[in-house]
Amino acid sequence: MIELQALTKRFGPFTAVDDLSLSVGRGEVLGFLGPNGAGKSTTMKMITGFLPPTSGRIQVCGHDVGTHPREAQAALGYLPEGAPLYPDMTPAALLRFCGEARGLRGQALRSAVDRAIERTELQGVTAQRIETLSKGFKRRVGLAQAILHDPEVLVLDEPTDGLDPNQKAQVRALIREMSGDKVIVLSTHILEEVEAVCSRATVMAEGRLRFDGTPAELRQRSRFFRSIELHLEGSPEGAQAALAGLEGVESVEPLEGSAGRSAFRVFPRDKRALLPEVTALAHARGWSTEHVFVDPGRLDDVFRVLTRDGAREERPGTTFEQMSSEAPAQEEATR
Ligand SMILES: Nc1ncnc2c1ncn2[C@@H]1O[C@H](COP(=O)(O)OP(=O)(O)OP(=O)(O)O)[C@@H](O)[C@H]1O
Ligand SMILES: [Mg+2]
Repeated sequence: MIELQALTKRFGPFTAVDDLSLSVGRGEVLGFLGPNGAGKSTTMKMITGFLPPTSGRIQVCGHDVGTHPREAQAALGYLPEGAPLYPDMTPAALLRFCGEARGLRGQALRSAVDRAIERTELQGVTAQRIETLSKGFKRRVGLAQAILHDPEVLVLDEPTDGLDPNQKAQVRALIREMSGDKVIVLSTHILEEVEAVCSRATVMAEGRLRFDGTPAELRQRSRFFRSIELHLEGSPEGAQAALAGLEGVESVEPLEGSAGRSAFRVFPRDKRALLPEVTALAHARGWSTEHVFVDPGRLDDVFRVLTRDGAREERPGTTFEQMSSEAPAQEEATR
């Protein structure tokens, strides 16, 4: 339903989006992650026809955005970055206005406006001028405007930015609820949000795609994925060497233990599950285990590796080990 072919955007000599190709199908919720300036908003502006690409092609529901922008735009709803709204209108008036611009009239318009207000929980502020609303409420008016005509394609630029925790949860639930029969593309800086709502995660940096996969696959790229944190009472003799000698162990790092305790992080080879071996060893040696924790992998760690300057583009055959071997040694220290 969204098809990007070799999409490129240059601003003068600067390339903001660099040869991006991507297709997104019905039912998918695709999350764009990436550092500030990666090109996420620029890509979304091009998908929505707000900004023309320098080269490349975009299709939305089969309509070429370059040659048939009206048809493409009719099929999509867009929440731009920031909250560009008419400040002296009320949410109710703005939504009516947008609905009319979308071609809705009479009862269809009234019920679309009511439904959007209800779904974004704007009931308490419908008659208040937008300029007097708080940041989160402005964002919610923007979201109500995007979903007003129940479009097949939703492009949401940081939809939960500025929302309180209750509203974040509410908007995520709304996105999940709407996702079944639509395609939703959103950007976010909240790594956990991708896991909470997205079926697919992409990471962009310097205008290029560095990762495209499921949120679980993204987490599995972490060097901590399936590593085991083991906290022992006392300091058993030779514990580190014994752990390092286990079948399937890549390396063991001592961690700072609290007083009278020792702690280790055990990294598996080939991301294999090591918990049975580690607990069996602890049992056999009579170690008193205070705490064992299998690390599910850390999104912030993967994000750093993927978006570091000069990190290579994701290609089949490029393993995480190859990528992480280029990582600076202070990765652990900065954690
Ligand atoms: N109109 C413009 N003229 C010149 N440069 C621009 C223009 N619009 C965007 N850029 C540049 O393009 C790059 C990508 O910007 P973009 O807004 O797409 O980043 P982003 O990934 O959305 O970042 P953020 O996480 O901060 O929202 C930035 O370096 C930005 O300064
Ligand atoms: Mg942006």
